[in-house]
Amino acid sequence: MGKNVNVLVIGGGGREHALCWKIRQSGMVDTLYCAPGNGGIEGEAICLPLDSADHGVVADFCREKDIGLVVVGPEAPLVNGLVDDLEKQGIKAFGPSAGAAQLEGSKGYTKDICAKYSIPTAAYKRCYSLDEANAYIEATGAPIVIKADGLAAGKGVIIAETKEQARAANADIFGGRFGEAGNSVVIEEMLVGEEASYLALIDGKNIVPLATSQDHKRAYDNDQGPNTGGMGAYSPAPVMTKAMCNQVMEEIIQPAVAAMDAEGYSYKGVLYAGLMITDSGPQLIEFNCRFGDPECQVILFRLESDLVPAMLAVIDGTLDKIKFKWSPGVAMAVVMAAKGYPASYQKGTVIRGLRAAGKPDDVFIFHAGTARKDGEILATGGRVLNVTALGKTVTEARDRAYGAIEKIDWPEGFCRSDIGWRAIERENG
Ligand code: AMP
Ligand code: GLY
Repeated sequence: MGKNVNVLVIGGGGREHALCWKIRQSGMVDTLYCAPGNGGIEGEAICLPLDSADHGVVADFCREKDIGLVVVGPEAPLVNGLVDDLEKQGIKAFGPSAGAAQLEGSKGYTKDICAKYSIPTAAYKRCYSLDEANAYIEATGAPIVIKADGLAAGKGVIIAETKEQARAANADIFGGRFGEAGNSVVIEEMLVGEEASYLALIDGKNIVPLATSQDHKRAYDNDQGPNTGGMGAYSPAPVMTKAMCNQVMEEIIQPAVAAMDAEGYSYKGVLYAGLMITDSGPQLIEFNCRFGDPECQVILFRLESDLVPAMLAVIDGTLDKIKFKWSPGVAMAVVMAAKGYPASYQKGTVIRGLRAAGKPDDVFIFHAGTARKDGEILATGGRVLNVTALGKTVTEARDRAYGAIEKIDWPEGFCRSDIGWRAIERENG
């Protein structure tokens, strides 16, 4: 094993709490920093308010603290080229370059890559004006899916059941609801099937898949309500059989890695494929250029190997040397969000009972949007806590997670009560 490193994690959500929790367990890490971090991450890392949009400030900090690895959690700094700018200064950073991160930064770009390199995905058209978008809907009919092209925090996708809803979505996006991210749209065919998340580490060439997972995008039980960043996840996803994983690797991941190389944007980091498993096979819904949130929490909860050497191998192009060992159990994360999320919600409410709810061996509460103030934990975001549990079965993981939630005293919060329902139905035959 190489020499020890100081690590800086960029971000402050549940994903970054999980990353810090895991990195902290590494035998290779001296000091761990996180910017900005949150009330939970403070238990794992030294948190500081660095402005990650100012790449010079981040680079100066890295030099001052002798940082040997920067891990960029969220998509925005990746799309804005933080990794490129750190690398130019000789600082090792985990995550794709801005060019490669276009796979998340522009949905239209990704669709064009899929078309050019025969990656299975829904039929689509990019539209650059409201008239063009409405004309396309007139021609295709509904149901149909409308997507703002750029980054919209998971909220820029509208599944329109009727032409009217589709026209309203077009008007909303071209009316500026998502700012520049809505300067163009992707309109695509609605896919039917079961969703799954397939993530892999990539060093430009070598690919190491991570454990499979499934997210729950809708805000309310029975997959009702608006789309969110994700209300809960579990790993593994039973729909991702070994044969299905192989098919996804051959038809989607490998071609995408080769495609980005051919386009001159060699992909390094974690590539997240959001999939729809349809009757005719896996279809790509979207790529993300970072760990999923809350998928990261359940994946890392099951990872028994050290993550830090793998992240360094991604940067150094030596991922062929890395093999991961996974817990055979099931991990589940239930998101507790502030009432009102994903629309407006109250901030600054007090959360109690967290200490009693966590259990050292099988339940851990990752913080997604909290701050500590005067000895109390305050909710500061929409998604606030990720109650994560490990069990031998999905049912056991679910019972442990919801058992912990009962001990949490936060009247202003809510969670879905049916995370894992598909897998539990399967388990119960
Ligand atoms: P995205 O941000 O592209 O992952 O879309 C958010 C969510 O919208 C996905 O997780 C799906 O639940 C849904 N979605 C996106 N595209 C489609 C599609 N073509 N067909 C059906 N559902 C979709
Ligand atoms: N959980 C979905 C995402 O991270 O995009």
